[in-house]
Amino acid sequence: MPRPYQEYLQEILIDEATLQKRIAELGQQISRDYAGKTDLLLICILKGGVLFLTDLMRHIDIPHHIDFMAVSSYGAQARQSSGAVRIEMDLHTDIANRHLLIVEDIIDSGHTLSYILRTLEARQPADVKICTLLSKRERREIDIKVDYIGFEIPNKFVFGYGLDLDEYYRNLPFIGVVRAEAYATKSEDA
Ligand code: IMP
Ligand code: MG
Repeated sequence: MPRPYQEYLQEILIDEATLQKRIAELGQQISRDYAGKTDLLLICILKGGVLFLTDLMRHIDIPHHIDFMAVSSYGAQARQSSGAVRIEMDLHTDIANRHLLIVEDIIDSGHTLSYILRTLEARQPADVKICTLLSKRERREIDIKVDYIGFEIPNKFVFGYGLDLDEYYRNLPFIGVVRAEAYATKSEDA
């Protein structure tokens, strides 16, 4: 059984009210920016983007579709993206000539999104934009243009609100900073 999340929580970085307020703003901004377009497709990157997508779309008041894509980085340690990315689950939608908005939980090095962008652009959509809830700018190794950013955060490992620790705690309604000692000890157990 997983331990109570409190054992891994150093501090709450972004509380529920702050998250929800910002997500509402992003939804309103996206609605304005895409006004008049009827072929918007929100592409949620699984699994971390799920909570963000479902809250964000409630604030997007123009017609749109949603679809899902799962990717994994392999050959990498759990906390680092190697740049080698694989599609685990592809879209079910033909994206040619569609306006795509990628909905992602967090951009760290940028490798994952850079790969996703290249893959999607090869299918000739009308355009592709990126909406990420969190960004660790100082960790960026690939410079990608991010159109919508919920929060810039410091270089700390975070969990909750879609982001997991060993697949747990994605349900937490806030973003928390992981207590390094607690998580390191736990990894050695595994
Ligand atoms: P990137 O390819 O380095 O930009 O990594 C992006 C992916 O790494 C995200 O989609 C997350 O799955 C994961 N990731 C990066 N930082 C964190 C974090 O602080 N907590 C949880 N997952 C993270
Ligand atoms: Mg992710």
